[in-house]
Amino acid sequence: MNSANHDVLRVEDARKELKVGEVTVHALKGVSLSVKQGEFLGIIGPSGSGKSTLLGLIGGLDTPTDGKVFIDGTDITRLNERELTRIRNEKIGFVFQAFNLIPTLTALENVSLPIQFARKQQFNPAKRAAELLDTFGLGDRLDHRPAQLSGGQQQRVAIARALANNPPLLLADEPTGNLDTSSTDVVMNALRDVQRKFNTTIIIVTHNMDIASQVDRLITLVDGKIADDIDPRSTAQRAAVQILKEKRATGETPAVR
Ligand SMILES: Nc1ncnc2c1ncn2[C@@H]1O[C@H](COP(=O)(O)OP(=O)(O)OP(=O)(O)O)[C@@H](O)[C@H]1O
Ligand SMILES: [Mg+2]
Repeated sequence: MNSANHDVLRVEDARKELKVGEVTVHALKGVSLSVKQGEFLGIIGPSGSGKSTLLGLIGGLDTPTDGKVFIDGTDITRLNERELTRIRNEKIGFVFQAFNLIPTLTALENVSLPIQFARKQQFNPAKRAAELLDTFGLGDRLDHRPAQLSGGQQQRVAIARALANNPPLLLADEPTGNLDTSSTDVVMNALRDVQRKFNTTIIIVTHNMDIASQVDRLITLVDGKIADDIDPRSTAQRAAVQILKEKRATGETPAVR
């Protein structure tokens, strides 16, 4: 399990059925997926296609009706609550759609908290928190409480907090939903940095096609199933090459990229 690029995550034929009154919703209809350590994965798909449900199963916040979820080779669907909590604390950083920051604590304290609670403390809490917040462009907001921060800034604090204990796996449900273009760039650059430095596996759900085009691997969920699984950057390259070819054929001067 120590090789550089083993499967940090494996989902096997995961299904999720939810009962609402008499109606059964099939939120996931058999999803299988392997993700390597250090991969930057995006998940897109229409509203209601099962993106948050899938992320919840991967993060151990919910259990599948059927199927398995392996984190670092351990099937987390078979763990009891205590074992699951431990895996979640040690291996998974989670950024929720609602950021869940503690309102009475400053940004620095919010990010320090999970470091103080870690079983094996590997960082100085305040130092690590300050460094992370600085990476996300909040070096001058350490002492602000959530209510004294903008929505986008709170979102970045939530991402920094999810990374506090350097988890091998970061899961984020629309982490840039509230951000303008320049803050989105700050977040994407910071996530890339984290991926490169720590070989962190990052899985983000997004509706933003700008972000979707920047990930290493892009999965499309439609109606509870994986409809597409591509490398958006090489696809983009193929498309660009195709355009160049067509321009040559028509005698136009190809634009240099
Ligand atoms: N707690 C629940 N009880 C019943 N049905 C649910 C529950 N949570 C989600 N669903 C249903 O499961 C399906 C998948 O929901 P999910 O939240 O995973 O979608 P999503 O792809 O994240 O959508 P969005 O882009 O709107 O966030 C939807 O049809 C939804 O109505
Ligand atoms: Mg969702």
